[in-house]
Amino acid sequence: MTDPAPLSTRVTDLLGVRYPIVQAPMGWIARAQLASAVSEAGGLGIIETSSGDLPAVREEIRKMRDLTERPFGVNIAQLFVRDPSIVDFVVEQGVRFVTTSAGDPNKYTAALKGAGLTVFHVVPTLAAARKAVDAGVDGLVVEGGEGGGFKNPRDVATMVLLPLVCSQLDVPVIAAGGICDGRSMAAAFALGAEGVQMGTRMVSAAESPVHDNWKAAIVAAAETDTVFLNRFSRPGLRALRTDRSTRLEQQEHVGMDEFGTAMDLYFGGDMEASLALGGQVMGRIDEVKPVAQVLAETMAEFYETASHLARFVAPVGTGG
Ligand SMILES: Cc1cc2nc3c(=O)[nH]c(=O)nc-3n(C[C@H](O)[C@H](O)[C@H](O)COP(=O)(O)O)c2cc1C
Repeated sequence: MTDPAPLSTRVTDLLGVRYPIVQAPMGWIARAQLASAVSEAGGLGIIETSSGDLPAVREEIRKMRDLTERPFGVNIAQLFVRDPSIVDFVVEQGVRFVTTSAGDPNKYTAALKGAGLTVFHVVPTLAAARKAVDAGVDGLVVEGGEGGGFKNPRDVATMVLLPLVCSQLDVPVIAAGGICDGRSMAAAFALGAEGVQMGTRMVSAAESPVHDNWKAAIVAAAETDTVFLNRFSRPGLRALRTDRSTRLEQQEHVGMDEFGTAMDLYFGGDMEASLALGGQVMGRIDEVKPVAQVLAETMAEFYETASHLARFVAPVGTGG
């Protein structure tokens, strides 16, 4: 398969990438092995800091420079990394693009932008989007509640949130939550996005460092196989349905101490040891694929879907 044509949007222009497809930041997963594969394939790989292990993150950024000369970004998950030196840390690494998430956009935006970085903030509501734009961000990652990971307990689906934000605010938007292929990417573009971010799809990619049991669970999952924990508490989160998460789903409050031992699940493959964060889109993922294949197929299907939709253009002179 020849490489699909590049696509130019405000997002690709800001990020300097061939395709407006971003790999989601994910603690311990969004590291050099996965992120470099995404950047090499023409998308944007992102290195996480949410594990809080900054020396390891520094090493991953160093590895990135060996593995790819293409652009990549870093995520600052504010809830997990409270160390005020995080901005200096990110700036020192020479990274050009940062997404900030899980916190107040006023906290780091000015400092990051002052250092010349491009900043996108992750938002789950219109009010949060307005606040981020007021804080001076360059763009938004608009994340619907069907996505995997930590969530606003008052979750709003991508189908509602994305057109709402895009109709009210004129900044470049990357859509997240529920996107795994060209069809869902085209839908996000129809709703106003100029780029997409994939989380669960990337957890299940061949280059993802997680245990094969987790990838197999994503492939086997139906669209109903996620649970939302802490619906009436914090932190809200969406994860794969397992015996453990099904039991916790009934609890009014699930504390971090009940999350279990993540490493035994992530890399040991014990799916009951902790919570496997993931989105409803796992019901649409039925194969582990290399990142390059995911990106090439997504772009080919995106173009195909867009030309298919062109069939519905109103004929000239019909008042359409
Ligand atoms: C395993 C996992 C870990 C995640 N960790 C983070 C994180 O550290 N920071 C963050 O901003 N989002 C995090 N997220 C959310 C993703 O960045 C992404 O926006 C979301 O997965 C998109 O929805 P999708 O899973 O339907 O693709 C995580 C998601 C998953 C599945």
